[in-house]
Amino acid sequence: MLEKKDLDWGNLGFSYMKTDYSYVSTWRDGAWDEGRLTTDHTVTLSECAGILHYCQECFEGLKAYTTKHGDIVCFRPDMNAKRMHDSAERLVMPPFPEDRFVEAVKKVVAANAAWVPPFGSGATLYVRPLMFATGEVIGVKPADEYQFRILVTPVGPYFKGGDKAITITIAQYDRAAPHGTGNIKAGLNYAMSLYPYEEAHKNGYSENLYLDSATRTYVEETGGANVMFVNKNGELIVPQSHTNSILPSITRRSLVTVARDMLGMTVIERPVKFSEVTNGDFVECGLCGTAAVISPVGHIEAEGVHVTFPDGAETSGPVMKKLRKTLTDIQSGEIEGPEGWVCKIC
Ligand code: PLP
Ligand code: COI
Repeated sequence: MLEKKDLDWGNLGFSYMKTDYSYVSTWRDGAWDEGRLTTDHTVTLSECAGILHYCQECFEGLKAYTTKHGDIVCFRPDMNAKRMHDSAERLVMPPFPEDRFVEAVKKVVAANAAWVPPFGSGATLYVRPLMFATGEVIGVKPADEYQFRILVTPVGPYFKGGDKAITITIAQYDRAAPHGTGNIKAGLNYAMSLYPYEEAHKNGYSENLYLDSATRTYVEETGGANVMFVNKNGELIVPQSHTNSILPSITRRSLVTVARDMLGMTVIERPVKFSEVTNGDFVECGLCGTAAVISPVGHIEAEGVHVTFPDGAETSGPVMKKLRKTLTDIQSGEIEGPEGWVCKIC
């Protein structure tokens, strides 16, 4: 029987803790090397490395869980592999092969099995693949060397307060250019969200809702999660972006399937005007993502904006609660999900 690390699993925050192993592979002379586990959790770079100047970097986020049956699994890692491939292409980096991505996730999680929180603890092992330019560049062009790494760290909930609904605000700054750069998971977009994040926190809000940067009339997503609504007819309304600037959340796409195929709900994916939100068309709101899972939003407040979601103003509303339970039950092996969603590691 594997001895778990002696951690206070139930009280972990969403923060970094060094574990035993990370994974590293290097791209040099036009190819990825065979890759390996490493106990070195630091990176040494040239001062002229591409990442430090032109921000060639992208990353992913997924979680490993201990199921009810004691297996260690992760959730749809092939989707992260594909999205990282797309992010890398958009940033002119050599994509890490998708099958090798999944194998590397399995290898590093298995090597850190003692760090995967026990079933029922409320914690998970967060897995963060990342890729960045290590090659030297001074003119604006792609680098010729890259590193792909995966770090893992045990985490608790992203938003504190359990089922308590959060209040969010409207970001007054754009996080991404209007056309298609919000849809890649890259450090540069997140760096652009830090200023509005600090502003929101200073004013007592948990998160920012971004409106589309071209017209500021459509709902996009929040700083770290996609957003979804429930209307008065009990339908799930999922914002789409016509400018391709909402991150294609794996959690959101999974919840659409769960709602439609497992819970028999009507799901409508379409651009959503912010005026629909302020008009009171929606009774519930939730933020969904790997870190957020589904976190209930009770209110949206900004200058001249006071929105309350009546069915989930204080704690999660009934639809968000049901979606969250079904998804987390699939992830923890309580119920069977669609084929291929749960990937056994060890
Ligand atoms: N949107 C943003 C900006 C995110 O950072 C995340 C987290 O990865 C998501 C959405 C949710 O994506 P996923 O469900 O794939 O974790
Ligand atoms: C994730 O959910 O994996 C993310 O990358 C979001 C980030 C806010 C931690």
